Amino acid sequence: MTAREQQKPVQAPPPGLRSAKWFAGKDVPGFVHRSAMRASGFSRMAFEGRPIVGICNSWSEVVNCNMHFRGLADSVRRGVLAAGGFPLEFPTISLGEQLMKPTTMLFRNLMAMDVEESIRAYPFDSVVLLGGCDKTVPAQLMGAASADVPAIVLTGGPAAPAVFAGKQLGVGTDLWEYIDDVRAGRMSMVDYERLEAAAGPSRGHCPEMGTASTMATLVEGLGMTLPGTAAIPAMDSRRMQAAEECGARAVGLALEGLRPSDVLTTEAFDNAITLMLAVGGSTNAIVHLLAIAGRVGVPLSLDRFHEISARTPLVVNVRPAGQHLVEQVFHAGGIPAVMRSIESLLHVDARTVTGKTVSENLPAGAAADTSIIAPLSSPFQPAQGLAVVRGNLAPLGAVIKCSAATPELLVHRGPAVVFENMKDLLARFDDPDLEVTPDSVLVLRSAGPRGAPGMPEWGQLPIPTKLLKTGVTDMVRISDARMSGTAYGTCVLHVSPESAAGGPLGLVRDGDVIALDAFAGKLDVLVSEAELEARRAAPAPPALNRPVRGYAALYVDRVLQAHQGCDFDFLAGRSQNPADEPDAVFDGWVGGW
Ligand code: FES
Repeated sequence: MTAREQQKPVQAPPPGLRSAKWFAGKDVPGFVHRSAMRASGFSRMAFEGRPIVGICNSWSEVVNCNMHFRGLADSVRRGVLAAGGFPLEFPTISLGEQLMKPTTMLFRNLMAMDVEESIRAYPFDSVVLLGGCDKTVPAQLMGAASADVPAIVLTGGPAAPAVFAGKQLGVGTDLWEYIDDVRAGRMSMVDYERLEAAAGPSRGHCPEMGTASTMATLVEGLGMTLPGTAAIPAMDSRRMQAAEECGARAVGLALEGLRPSDVLTTEAFDNAITLMLAVGGSTNAIVHLLAIAGRVGVPLSLDRFHEISARTPLVVNVRPAGQHLVEQVFHAGGIPAVMRSIESLLHVDARTVTGKTVSENLPAGAAADTSIIAPLSSPFQPAQGLAVVRGNLAPLGAVIKCSAATPELLVHRGPAVVFENMKDLLARFDDPDLEVTPDSVLVLRSAGPRGAPGMPEWGQLPIPTKLLKTGVTDMVRISDARMSGTAYGTCVLHVSPESAAGGPLGLVRDGDVIALDAFAGKLDVLVSEAELEARRAAPAPPALNRPVRGYAALYVDRVLQAHQGCDFDFLAGRSQNPADEPDAVFDGWVGGW
Protein backbone atom coordinates (compact mmCIF):
# COMPACT_ATOMS: atom_id res chain seq x y z
CA MET A 1 0.00 0.00 0.00
CA THR A 2 1.47 3.36 -0.97
CA ALA A 3 1.60 6.37 1.28
CA ARG A 4 -0.94 8.01 -0.99
CA GLU A 5 -3.39 5.13 -0.59
CA GLN A 6 -2.97 5.30 3.20
CA GLN A 7 -4.06 8.92 3.40
CA LYS A 8 -5.27 9.92 6.82
CA PRO A 9 -7.58 12.83 7.65
CA VAL A 10 -5.49 15.90 8.41
CA GLN A 11 -7.78 16.94 11.20
CA ALA A 12 -10.48 15.47 13.37
CA PRO A 13 -13.97 16.54 12.29
CA PRO A 14 -15.35 19.43 14.31
CA PRO A 15 -18.09 18.09 16.58
CA GLY A 16 -21.58 17.96 15.14
CA LEU A 17 -20.72 18.10 11.47
CA ARG A 18 -23.48 16.49 9.44
CA SER A 19 -21.02 15.28 6.81
CA ALA A 20 -19.17 13.22 9.41
CA LYS A 21 -22.06 10.74 9.25
CA TRP A 22 -21.03 10.05 5.68
CA PHE A 23 -17.27 10.27 5.91
CA ALA A 24 -16.00 9.67 9.44
CA GLY A 25 -17.03 6.05 9.95
CA LYS A 26 -14.57 3.19 9.87
CA ASP A 27 -17.40 0.92 8.71
CA VAL A 28 -18.48 -0.08 5.21
CA PRO A 29 -20.64 3.03 4.59
CA GLY A 30 -17.70 5.29 5.54
CA PHE A 31 -15.49 3.35 3.14
CA VAL A 32 -18.05 3.61 0.32
CA HIS A 33 -18.66 7.33 0.76
CA ARG A 34 -14.97 8.23 0.96
CA SER A 35 -14.30 6.02 -1.99
CA ALA A 36 -16.95 7.85 -4.02
CA MET A 37 -15.28 11.16 -3.19
CA ARG A 38 -11.87 9.82 -4.11
CA ALA A 39 -13.30 8.55 -7.38
CA SER A 40 -14.09 12.20 -8.11
CA GLY A 41 -10.41 12.97 -7.58
CA PHE A 42 -10.68 14.40 -4.06
CA SER A 43 -8.05 13.18 -1.61
CA ARG A 44 -8.98 12.45 2.01
CA MET A 45 -6.99 15.41 3.26
CA ALA A 46 -9.08 17.67 1.02
CA PHE A 47 -12.50 16.82 2.38
CA GLU A 48 -12.34 14.69 5.49
CA GLY A 49 -12.89 16.46 8.76
CA ARG A 50 -13.74 19.70 7.00
CA PRO A 51 -17.15 21.38 6.70
CA ILE A 52 -18.61 20.37 3.35
CA VAL A 53 -20.20 23.40 1.68
CA GLY A 54 -22.65 22.77 -1.15
CA ILE A 55 -22.75 25.39 -3.88
CA CYS A 56 -26.28 25.19 -5.24
CA ASN A 57 -25.82 26.61 -8.72
CA SER A 58 -28.73 27.69 -10.91
CA TRP A 59 -26.39 28.30 -13.85
CA SER A 60 -27.90 27.30 -17.16
CA GLU A 61 -27.41 28.26 -20.75
CA VAL A 62 -31.16 28.78 -21.04
CA VAL A 63 -31.17 31.27 -18.16
CA ASN A 64 -29.35 34.27 -19.56
CA CYS A 65 -29.60 36.21 -16.28
CA ASN A 66 -27.59 33.51 -14.47
CA MET A 67 -25.01 32.88 -17.19
CA HIS A 68 -22.11 34.24 -15.11
CA PHE A 69 -22.67 31.82 -12.25
CA ARG A 70 -19.90 29.41 -13.19
CA GLY A 71 -17.34 32.13 -12.51
CA LEU A 72 -19.21 33.20 -9.40
CA ALA A 73 -19.20 29.61 -8.13
CA ASP A 74 -15.41 29.58 -8.55
CA SER A 75 -15.22 32.64 -6.33
CA VAL A 76 -17.41 30.97 -3.72
CA ARG A 77 -15.16 27.93 -3.92
CA ARG A 78 -12.07 30.04 -3.16
CA GLY A 79 -13.79 31.51 -0.12
CA VAL A 80 -14.78 28.09 1.20
CA LEU A 81 -11.26 26.72 0.80
CA ALA A 82 -9.67 29.78 2.36
CA ALA A 83 -11.87 29.32 5.43
CA GLY A 84 -10.98 25.66 5.79
CA GLY A 85 -14.05 24.06 4.24
CA PHE A 86 -14.47 21.87 1.20
CA PRO A 87 -16.81 23.04 -1.59
CA LEU A 88 -18.98 20.74 -3.70
CA GLU A 89 -20.94 22.42 -6.49
CA PHE A 90 -24.20 20.85 -7.60
CA PRO A 91 -26.76 21.82 -10.24
CA THR A 92 -30.49 22.05 -9.93
CA ILE A 93 -33.22 22.82 -12.41
CA SER A 94 -33.10 26.53 -13.27
CA LEU A 95 -35.88 28.87 -14.34
CA GLY A 96 -35.31 31.38 -17.16
CA GLU A 97 -37.98 34.02 -17.07
CA GLN A 98 -38.01 34.78 -20.76
CA LEU A 99 -37.47 31.43 -22.47
CA MET A 100 -39.34 29.03 -20.22
CA LYS A 101 -42.96 28.31 -21.12
CA PRO A 102 -45.73 28.51 -20.23
CA THR A 103 -44.41 30.42 -17.20
CA THR A 104 -41.56 29.97 -14.71
CA MET A 105 -44.05 30.29 -11.87
CA LEU A 106 -45.44 26.89 -12.83
CA PHE A 107 -42.01 25.43 -12.03
CA ARG A 108 -40.99 27.46 -8.96
CA ASN A 109 -42.24 24.71 -6.65
CA LEU A 110 -40.49 22.06 -8.72
CA MET A 111 -37.17 23.87 -8.35
CA ALA A 112 -37.84 24.33 -4.63
CA MET A 113 -38.34 20.57 -4.31
CA ASP A 114 -35.14 19.89 -6.25
CA VAL A 115 -33.18 22.27 -4.02
CA GLU A 116 -34.67 20.88 -0.81
CA GLU A 117 -34.11 17.25 -1.65
CA SER A 118 -30.60 17.84 -3.00
CA ILE A 119 -29.57 19.63 0.19
CA ARG A 120 -31.10 17.01 2.43
CA ALA A 121 -29.88 13.99 0.51
CA TYR A 122 -26.20 14.92 0.21
CA PRO A 123 -23.54 15.36 2.90
CA PHE A 124 -23.64 19.16 3.09
CA ASP A 125 -22.90 20.98 6.33
CA SER A 126 -24.00 24.26 4.79
CA VAL A 127 -25.02 25.60 1.40
CA VAL A 128 -24.41 28.69 -0.70
CA LEU A 129 -27.43 29.34 -2.90
CA LEU A 130 -26.58 31.00 -6.22
CA GLY A 131 -29.75 32.51 -7.66
CA GLY A 132 -30.64 35.52 -9.76
CA CYS A 133 -33.46 35.40 -12.27
CA ASP A 134 -36.90 35.99 -10.77
CA LYS A 135 -38.03 32.57 -9.56
CA THR A 136 -34.63 31.06 -8.85
CA VAL A 137 -34.14 33.00 -5.61
CA PRO A 138 -37.54 32.23 -4.01
CA ALA A 139 -37.32 28.60 -5.12
CA GLN A 140 -33.92 28.25 -3.47
CA LEU A 141 -35.09 29.98 -0.30
CA MET A 142 -38.17 27.74 -0.09
CA GLY A 143 -36.10 24.61 -0.58
CA ALA A 144 -33.38 25.68 1.84
CA ALA A 145 -35.96 26.69 4.44
CA SER A 146 -37.54 23.25 4.32
CA ALA A 147 -34.22 21.38 4.34
CA ASP A 148 -33.08 23.64 7.21
CA VAL A 149 -29.37 22.99 6.72
CA PRO A 150 -27.33 26.20 7.32
CA ALA A 151 -27.55 28.30 4.17
CA ILE A 152 -26.55 31.66 2.75
CA VAL A 153 -27.76 33.26 -0.48
CA LEU A 154 -25.61 34.96 -3.10
CA THR A 155 -27.63 36.69 -5.81
CA GLY A 156 -26.25 37.40 -9.27
CA GLY A 157 -26.52 41.19 -9.33
CA PRO A 158 -28.14 43.57 -11.77
CA ALA A 159 -27.03 43.55 -15.40
CA ALA A 160 -25.35 46.58 -16.93
CA PRO A 161 -27.88 49.12 -18.12
CA ALA A 162 -28.91 49.03 -21.76
CA VAL A 163 -28.61 52.22 -23.77
CA PHE A 164 -30.89 52.86 -26.73
CA ALA A 165 -31.21 56.05 -28.76
CA GLY A 166 -29.06 57.83 -26.19
CA LYS A 167 -31.32 56.83 -23.32
CA GLN A 168 -30.49 54.45 -20.48
CA LEU A 169 -33.12 51.73 -20.29
CA GLY A 170 -34.66 49.69 -17.57
CA VAL A 171 -35.16 46.52 -19.57
CA GLY A 172 -38.69 45.65 -18.55
CA THR A 173 -40.15 49.03 -17.69
CA ASP A 174 -39.10 50.80 -20.88
CA LEU A 175 -39.93 47.82 -23.03
CA TRP A 176 -43.60 48.01 -22.07
CA GLU A 177 -43.64 51.64 -23.25
CA TYR A 178 -41.90 50.81 -26.52
CA ILE A 179 -44.32 47.94 -27.18
CA ASP A 180 -47.21 50.40 -26.85
CA ASP A 181 -45.31 52.80 -29.15
CA VAL A 182 -45.09 50.09 -31.81
CA ARG A 183 -48.77 49.23 -31.46
CA ALA A 184 -49.75 52.89 -31.70
CA GLY A 185 -47.50 53.38 -34.77
CA ARG A 186 -45.06 55.72 -32.96
CA MET A 187 -42.03 53.45 -33.41
CA SER A 188 -40.76 51.84 -36.62
CA MET A 189 -40.00 48.14 -36.89
CA VAL A 190 -36.39 49.00 -37.79
CA ASP A 191 -35.94 50.82 -34.49
CA TYR A 192 -37.76 48.02 -32.72
CA GLU A 193 -35.19 45.51 -33.98
CA ARG A 194 -32.35 47.79 -32.91
CA LEU A 195 -33.92 47.89 -29.48
CA GLU A 196 -34.06 44.08 -29.42
CA ALA A 197 -30.30 43.89 -30.01
CA ALA A 198 -29.53 46.52 -27.38
CA ALA A 199 -31.89 45.41 -24.61
CA GLY A 200 -29.58 42.94 -22.87
CA PRO A 201 -26.00 44.26 -22.87
CA SER A 202 -24.62 42.03 -20.11
CA ARG A 203 -25.22 39.07 -17.89
CA GLY A 204 -27.06 39.60 -14.65
CA HIS A 205 -30.67 40.07 -13.72
CA CYS A 206 -32.97 42.90 -14.83
CA PRO A 207 -31.38 46.18 -13.75
CA GLU A 208 -34.43 47.95 -12.36
CA MET A 209 -36.40 47.08 -9.22
CA GLY A 210 -38.28 44.28 -10.98
CA THR A 211 -38.90 40.94 -9.38
CA ALA A 212 -35.28 39.76 -9.44
CA SER A 213 -33.87 42.90 -7.82
CA THR A 214 -36.76 42.93 -5.38
CA MET A 215 -36.04 39.35 -4.32
CA ALA A 216 -32.31 40.11 -4.04
CA THR A 217 -33.18 43.10 -1.85
CA LEU A 218 -35.50 41.00 0.29
CA VAL A 219 -32.81 38.40 0.82
CA GLU A 220 -30.88 41.16 2.59
CA GLY A 221 -34.04 42.17 4.44
CA LEU A 222 -34.57 38.59 5.59
CA GLY A 223 -30.98 38.43 6.80
CA MET A 224 -30.12 35.52 4.50
CA THR A 225 -27.09 37.07 2.78
CA LEU A 226 -24.14 39.27 3.63
CA PRO A 227 -25.16 42.92 3.99
CA GLY A 228 -24.50 45.02 0.92
CA THR A 229 -24.40 42.21 -1.61
CA ALA A 230 -27.82 42.55 -3.27
CA ALA A 231 -27.15 45.61 -5.41
CA ILE A 232 -23.54 45.01 -6.48
CA PRO A 233 -23.65 45.00 -10.30
CA ALA A 234 -23.28 41.58 -11.86
CA MET A 235 -20.11 42.51 -13.72
CA ASP A 236 -18.45 44.44 -10.89
CA SER A 237 -15.41 42.69 -9.41
CA ARG A 238 -16.82 43.41 -5.97
CA ARG A 239 -19.48 40.76 -6.66
CA MET A 240 -16.76 38.15 -7.02
CA GLN A 241 -15.20 39.37 -3.79
CA ALA A 242 -18.60 39.10 -2.12
CA ALA A 243 -18.88 35.55 -3.46
CA GLU A 244 -15.61 34.65 -1.75
CA GLU A 245 -16.89 36.17 1.47
CA CYS A 246 -20.15 34.22 1.20
CA GLY A 247 -18.16 31.02 0.71
CA ALA A 248 -16.08 31.76 3.78
CA ARG A 249 -19.15 32.64 5.81
CA ALA A 250 -20.80 29.35 4.79
CA VAL A 251 -17.96 27.55 6.57
CA GLY A 252 -18.70 29.58 9.69
CA LEU A 253 -22.40 28.76 9.42
CA ALA A 254 -21.59 25.07 9.16
CA LEU A 255 -19.51 25.19 12.33
CA GLU A 256 -22.00 27.35 14.24
CA GLY A 257 -25.06 25.39 13.09
CA LEU A 258 -27.10 28.55 12.42
CA ARG A 259 -30.04 27.32 10.35
CA PRO A 260 -32.53 29.11 8.06
CA SER A 261 -35.24 28.56 10.67
CA ASP A 262 -33.13 30.58 13.14
CA VAL A 263 -33.05 33.53 10.73
CA LEU A 264 -36.43 33.35 8.95
CA THR A 265 -38.53 34.59 11.85
CA THR A 266 -41.68 36.68 12.03
CA GLU A 267 -39.47 39.74 12.53
CA ALA A 268 -37.37 38.90 9.48
CA PHE A 269 -40.49 38.74 7.29
CA ASP A 270 -41.70 42.07 8.68
CA ASN A 271 -38.31 43.54 7.78
CA ALA A 272 -38.47 42.10 4.28
CA ILE A 273 -41.98 43.46 3.67
CA THR A 274 -40.94 46.88 4.96
CA LEU A 275 -37.94 46.89 2.65
CA MET A 276 -40.08 45.78 -0.29
CA LEU A 277 -42.34 48.79 0.22
CA ALA A 278 -39.46 51.19 0.81
CA VAL A 279 -37.95 50.30 -2.58
CA GLY A 280 -41.26 50.08 -4.48
CA GLY A 281 -40.67 46.39 -5.16
CA SER A 282 -42.51 43.87 -7.25
CA THR A 283 -45.90 42.48 -6.24
CA ASN A 284 -44.53 39.04 -7.14
CA ALA A 285 -42.53 39.19 -3.93
CA ILE A 286 -45.79 39.00 -1.98
CA VAL A 287 -46.51 35.52 -3.33
CA HIS A 288 -42.92 34.41 -2.74
CA LEU A 289 -42.69 35.75 0.82
CA LEU A 290 -45.97 34.04 1.70
CA ALA A 291 -44.58 30.77 0.37
CA ILE A 292 -41.20 31.09 2.15
CA ALA A 293 -42.91 32.00 5.43
CA GLY A 294 -45.15 28.98 5.00
CA ARG A 295 -42.10 26.73 4.74
CA VAL A 296 -40.82 27.76 8.18
CA GLY A 297 -44.23 27.91 9.80
CA VAL A 298 -44.27 31.69 10.24
CA PRO A 299 -47.90 32.84 10.10
CA LEU A 300 -48.02 35.53 7.41
CA SER A 301 -51.13 36.83 5.69
CA LEU A 302 -51.94 39.50 3.13
CA ASP A 303 -53.21 41.69 5.96
CA ARG A 304 -49.65 42.07 7.26
CA PHE A 305 -48.61 43.54 3.89
CA HIS A 306 -51.46 46.04 4.08
CA GLU A 307 -50.55 47.02 7.66
CA ILE A 308 -46.88 47.52 6.89
CA SER A 309 -47.72 49.38 3.68
CA ALA A 310 -49.78 51.86 5.69
CA ARG A 311 -46.67 52.97 7.60
CA THR A 312 -43.89 52.57 5.02
CA PRO A 313 -43.15 55.26 2.44
CA LEU A 314 -41.08 54.93 -0.72
CA VAL A 315 -37.52 56.09 0.07
CA VAL A 316 -35.67 54.79 -2.99
CA ASN A 317 -35.78 56.56 -6.34
CA VAL A 318 -35.50 53.49 -8.56
CA ARG A 319 -37.49 52.27 -11.53
CA PRO A 320 -40.27 51.39 -12.03
CA ALA A 321 -41.50 53.65 -9.19
CA GLY A 322 -38.67 56.19 -9.70
CA GLN A 323 -35.95 57.23 -12.13
CA HIS A 324 -32.76 55.28 -11.45
CA LEU A 325 -31.50 51.74 -11.85
CA VAL A 326 -30.29 49.43 -9.10
CA GLU A 327 -26.68 50.18 -10.04
CA GLN A 328 -27.16 53.78 -8.95
CA VAL A 329 -28.74 52.55 -5.72
CA PHE A 330 -25.57 50.52 -5.13
CA HIS A 331 -23.36 53.58 -5.62
CA ALA A 332 -25.57 55.55 -3.23
CA GLY A 333 -24.93 53.03 -0.47
CA GLY A 334 -26.94 49.99 -1.54
CA ILE A 335 -29.51 48.16 0.53
CA PRO A 336 -27.68 48.76 3.85
CA ALA A 337 -28.16 52.51 3.29
CA VAL A 338 -31.86 51.91 2.57
CA MET A 339 -32.14 49.89 5.76
CA ARG A 340 -30.37 52.64 7.67
CA SER A 341 -32.94 55.12 6.31
CA ILE A 342 -35.91 53.00 7.46
CA GLU A 343 -34.19 51.69 10.59
CA SER A 344 -36.98 52.92 12.88
CA LEU A 345 -39.46 50.72 10.96
CA LEU A 346 -37.35 47.57 11.24
CA HIS A 347 -36.91 44.91 13.88
CA VAL A 348 -33.24 45.68 14.35
CA ASP A 349 -32.69 42.82 16.80
CA ALA A 350 -33.48 40.20 14.15
CA ARG A 351 -30.66 37.72 13.67
CA THR A 352 -28.92 37.32 10.31
CA VAL A 353 -26.56 34.85 8.66
CA THR A 354 -23.63 37.04 9.67
CA GLY A 355 -24.29 35.82 13.20
CA LYS A 356 -25.05 39.42 14.11
CA THR A 357 -28.28 41.39 14.34
CA VAL A 358 -29.64 43.78 11.71
CA SER A 359 -28.59 46.65 13.94
CA GLU A 360 -25.02 45.38 14.23
CA ASN A 361 -24.84 44.98 10.44
CA LEU A 362 -26.06 48.50 9.61
CA PRO A 363 -23.53 51.03 8.33
CA ALA A 364 -22.93 54.30 10.09
CA GLY A 365 -24.26 57.48 8.51
CA ALA A 366 -26.73 58.39 5.80
CA ALA A 367 -26.79 57.40 2.13
CA ALA A 368 -24.15 58.89 -0.15
CA ASP A 369 -26.79 60.43 -2.40
CA THR A 370 -30.13 61.37 -0.87
CA SER A 371 -31.62 62.04 -4.31
CA ILE A 372 -31.50 58.25 -4.74
CA ILE A 373 -31.93 57.00 -1.16
CA ALA A 374 -33.92 59.50 0.86
CA PRO A 375 -34.14 59.83 4.61
CA LEU A 376 -37.39 58.54 6.09
CA SER A 377 -38.33 62.13 6.97
CA SER A 378 -38.53 63.19 3.29
CA PRO A 379 -39.58 60.18 1.21
CA PHE A 380 -40.25 60.16 -2.53
CA GLN A 381 -43.81 58.89 -2.08
CA PRO A 382 -46.01 58.59 0.98
CA ALA A 383 -46.94 55.31 2.59
CA GLN A 384 -49.52 52.92 1.14
CA GLY A 385 -47.67 52.06 -2.04
CA LEU A 386 -49.48 48.75 -1.91
CA ALA A 387 -53.06 47.93 -0.97
CA VAL A 388 -54.81 44.68 -0.27
CA VAL A 389 -58.41 44.77 -1.43
CA ARG A 390 -61.28 42.44 -0.57
CA GLY A 391 -64.97 42.26 -1.31
CA ASN A 392 -67.43 40.08 -3.12
CA LEU A 393 -65.06 39.93 -6.09
CA ALA A 394 -62.03 38.88 -4.03
CA PRO A 395 -63.22 37.34 -0.75
CA LEU A 396 -59.73 36.11 0.17
CA GLY A 397 -57.94 39.17 -1.09
CA ALA A 398 -56.23 40.74 -4.07
CA VAL A 399 -53.40 43.27 -4.32
CA ILE A 400 -52.80 46.51 -6.16
CA LYS A 401 -49.51 48.37 -6.43
CA CYS A 402 -50.76 51.91 -5.81
CA SER A 403 -47.31 53.41 -6.45
CA ALA A 404 -47.45 52.12 -10.05
CA ALA A 405 -51.09 53.11 -10.65
CA THR A 406 -52.83 56.26 -11.88
CA PRO A 407 -53.90 57.99 -8.64
CA GLU A 408 -57.30 59.05 -10.06
CA LEU A 409 -58.15 55.43 -10.87
CA LEU A 410 -57.52 54.07 -7.39
CA VAL A 411 -61.14 54.91 -6.57
CA HIS A 412 -63.18 54.01 -9.62
CA ARG A 413 -66.46 52.52 -10.84
CA GLY A 414 -66.96 51.22 -14.35
CA PRO A 415 -68.62 48.55 -16.45
CA ALA A 416 -66.79 45.27 -16.88
CA VAL A 417 -65.37 44.08 -20.18
CA VAL A 418 -64.69 40.41 -19.56
CA PHE A 419 -62.11 38.20 -21.22
CA GLU A 420 -62.59 34.49 -20.53
CA ASN A 421 -58.91 33.68 -20.78
CA MET A 422 -55.70 34.87 -22.43
CA LYS A 423 -56.69 33.36 -25.75
CA ASP A 424 -59.91 35.37 -25.74
CA LEU A 425 -57.99 38.52 -24.77
CA LEU A 426 -55.47 38.11 -27.58
CA ALA A 427 -58.27 37.50 -30.07
CA ARG A 428 -60.22 40.65 -29.17
CA PHE A 429 -58.15 43.46 -27.71
CA ASP A 430 -57.21 44.73 -31.16
CA ASP A 431 -60.81 44.54 -32.39
CA PRO A 432 -62.04 48.01 -33.46
CA ASP A 433 -65.59 46.91 -32.60
CA LEU A 434 -64.75 45.94 -29.00
CA GLU A 435 -67.30 47.66 -26.76
CA VAL A 436 -64.99 49.46 -24.37
CA THR A 437 -64.53 53.01 -23.10
CA PRO A 438 -61.79 54.57 -20.95
CA ASP A 439 -64.07 54.06 -17.92
CA SER A 440 -64.45 50.34 -18.54
CA VAL A 441 -62.87 47.84 -16.18
CA LEU A 442 -60.98 45.11 -18.02
CA VAL A 443 -61.39 41.67 -16.43
CA LEU A 444 -59.27 38.63 -17.23
CA ARG A 445 -60.03 35.27 -15.70
CA SER A 446 -58.56 31.76 -15.93
CA ALA A 447 -55.15 33.31 -15.33
CA GLY A 448 -54.51 32.10 -11.78
CA PRO A 449 -52.43 29.25 -10.33
CA ARG A 450 -54.79 26.52 -11.50
CA GLY A 451 -56.54 28.28 -14.35
CA ALA A 452 -53.66 29.32 -16.59
CA PRO A 453 -52.03 27.20 -15.08
CA GLY A 454 -49.08 28.68 -13.19
CA MET A 455 -50.41 32.22 -12.61
CA PRO A 456 -48.44 33.94 -15.38
CA GLU A 457 -47.64 37.65 -15.54
CA TRP A 458 -50.71 38.56 -17.56
CA GLY A 459 -52.09 41.05 -15.06
CA GLN A 460 -51.04 44.16 -16.98
CA LEU A 461 -53.76 43.59 -19.59
CA PRO A 462 -53.01 45.58 -22.75
CA ILE A 463 -55.04 48.72 -23.30
CA PRO A 464 -57.42 47.95 -26.20
CA THR A 465 -55.83 49.29 -29.37
CA LYS A 466 -58.68 51.60 -30.28
CA LEU A 467 -58.31 53.38 -26.91
CA LEU A 468 -54.54 53.37 -27.06
CA LYS A 469 -54.69 55.28 -30.33
CA THR A 470 -56.78 57.98 -28.67
CA GLY A 471 -54.13 58.48 -26.00
CA VAL A 472 -55.53 56.30 -23.19
CA THR A 473 -52.56 55.01 -21.20
CA ASP A 474 -54.17 53.39 -18.16
CA MET A 475 -57.41 51.71 -17.14
CA VAL A 476 -58.53 49.63 -14.18
CA ARG A 477 -57.64 46.02 -14.89
CA ILE A 478 -58.51 43.03 -12.71
CA SER A 479 -57.28 39.47 -12.91
CA ASP A 480 -56.24 36.41 -10.97
CA ALA A 481 -52.82 36.67 -12.66
CA ARG A 482 -49.55 38.22 -11.49
CA MET A 483 -47.81 41.20 -13.08
CA SER A 484 -44.18 41.69 -14.04
CA GLY A 485 -42.23 43.59 -11.43
CA THR A 486 -41.26 46.06 -14.13
CA ALA A 487 -44.85 46.78 -15.17
CA TYR A 488 -47.16 49.58 -14.10
CA GLY A 489 -50.79 50.58 -14.35
CA THR A 490 -53.93 50.35 -12.24
CA CYS A 491 -53.91 46.57 -12.11
CA VAL A 492 -55.67 44.57 -9.41
CA LEU A 493 -53.78 41.29 -9.19
CA HIS A 494 -53.76 37.89 -7.46
CA VAL A 495 -57.56 37.81 -7.04
CA SER A 496 -58.25 34.97 -4.63
CA PRO A 497 -59.83 32.55 -4.92
CA GLU A 498 -59.13 32.46 -8.65
CA SER A 499 -61.91 31.85 -11.14
CA ALA A 500 -60.71 28.30 -11.85
CA ALA A 501 -61.09 27.52 -8.14
CA GLY A 502 -64.68 28.75 -8.11
CA GLY A 503 -63.87 32.36 -7.25
CA PRO A 504 -66.43 35.05 -8.03
CA LEU A 505 -64.22 36.52 -10.76
CA GLY A 506 -65.73 33.71 -12.84
CA LEU A 507 -69.24 35.12 -12.32
CA VAL A 508 -68.70 38.63 -13.70
CA ARG A 509 -70.44 39.47 -16.97
CA ASP A 510 -69.92 42.26 -19.49
CA GLY A 511 -71.56 45.44 -18.26
CA ASP A 512 -71.58 44.57 -14.53
CA VAL A 513 -70.42 47.61 -12.61
CA ILE A 514 -67.22 47.02 -10.65
CA ALA A 515 -66.26 49.29 -7.76
CA LEU A 516 -62.63 49.65 -6.66
CA ASP A 517 -61.55 51.67 -3.63
CA ALA A 518 -57.90 50.90 -3.00
CA PHE A 519 -57.74 53.25 0.00
CA ALA A 520 -60.67 51.54 1.68
CA GLY A 521 -59.38 48.11 0.65
CA LYS A 522 -62.56 47.29 -1.30
CA LEU A 523 -63.25 45.48 -4.54
CA ASP A 524 -66.84 44.58 -5.41
CA VAL A 525 -69.03 43.78 -8.33
CA LEU A 526 -72.30 45.64 -7.82
CA VAL A 527 -74.56 42.67 -8.45
CA SER A 528 -76.96 41.22 -5.90
CA GLU A 529 -75.94 38.12 -3.98
CA ALA A 530 -79.05 36.35 -5.34
CA GLU A 531 -77.96 37.05 -8.91
CA LEU A 532 -74.41 35.85 -8.18
CA GLU A 533 -75.87 32.66 -6.67
CA ALA A 534 -77.96 32.08 -9.79
CA ARG A 535 -74.88 32.53 -11.97
CA ARG A 536 -72.92 30.18 -9.74
CA ALA A 537 -75.53 27.47 -10.30
CA ALA A 538 -75.16 27.69 -14.08
CA PRO A 539 -72.76 25.19 -15.68
CA ALA A 540 -69.21 26.50 -15.81
CA PRO A 541 -67.45 26.64 -19.16
CA PRO A 542 -64.93 23.82 -19.65
CA ALA A 543 -61.48 24.63 -18.28
CA LEU A 544 -58.82 25.38 -20.86
CA ASN A 545 -55.37 23.87 -20.68
CA ARG A 546 -56.02 21.61 -17.70
CA PRO A 547 -53.00 19.31 -17.63
CA VAL A 548 -53.70 15.62 -17.24
CA ARG A 549 -50.22 14.17 -16.76
CA GLY A 550 -46.88 14.71 -15.13
CA TYR A 551 -45.74 17.59 -12.97
CA ALA A 552 -48.31 20.04 -14.36
CA ALA A 553 -51.17 17.73 -13.35
CA LEU A 554 -49.72 17.49 -9.84
CA TYR A 555 -49.40 21.27 -9.81
CA VAL A 556 -53.05 22.04 -10.58
CA ASP A 557 -54.22 19.41 -8.11
CA ARG A 558 -52.14 20.55 -5.16
CA VAL A 559 -51.24 24.24 -5.62
CA LEU A 560 -52.51 26.66 -3.00
CA GLN A 561 -54.14 29.96 -3.90
CA ALA A 562 -52.27 33.24 -4.30
CA HIS A 563 -53.08 34.54 -0.80
CA GLN A 564 -51.26 31.46 0.52
CA GLY A 565 -48.21 31.86 -1.73
CA CYS A 566 -49.01 29.25 -4.41
CA ASP A 567 -46.94 26.60 -2.68
CA PHE A 568 -48.03 22.98 -2.75
CA ASP A 569 -50.35 22.05 0.10
CA PHE A 570 -48.06 19.13 1.03
CA LEU A 571 -44.98 21.38 1.33
CA ALA A 572 -46.43 24.26 3.31
CA GLY A 573 -45.75 24.36 7.03
CA ARG A 574 -42.81 23.15 9.04
CA SER A 575 -42.64 19.38 9.09
CA GLN A 576 -43.24 17.79 12.48
CA ASN A 577 -41.91 14.50 11.18
CA PRO A 578 -38.51 13.67 12.75
CA ALA A 579 -37.67 11.86 9.51
CA ASP A 580 -37.50 15.25 7.76
CA GLU A 581 -34.75 16.54 10.06
CA PRO A 582 -31.54 17.18 8.08
CA ASP A 583 -29.64 14.49 9.97
CA ALA A 584 -32.37 11.88 9.83
CA VAL A 585 -31.95 11.19 6.13
CA PHE A 586 -28.73 9.32 6.78
CA ASP A 587 -29.71 5.73 7.46
CA GLY A 588 -26.16 4.50 7.76
CA TRP A 589 -26.41 2.04 4.95
CA VAL A 590 -25.05 2.12 1.41
CA GLY A 591 -26.45 1.55 -2.00
CA GLY A 592 -25.20 1.49 -5.56
CA TRP A 593 -22.76 -1.37 -5.29
FE1 FES B 1 -34.21 37.20 -15.53
FE2 FES B 1 -35.49 39.67 -15.38
S1 FES B 1 -35.61 38.13 -16.91
S2 FES B 1 -34.15 38.72 -14.03
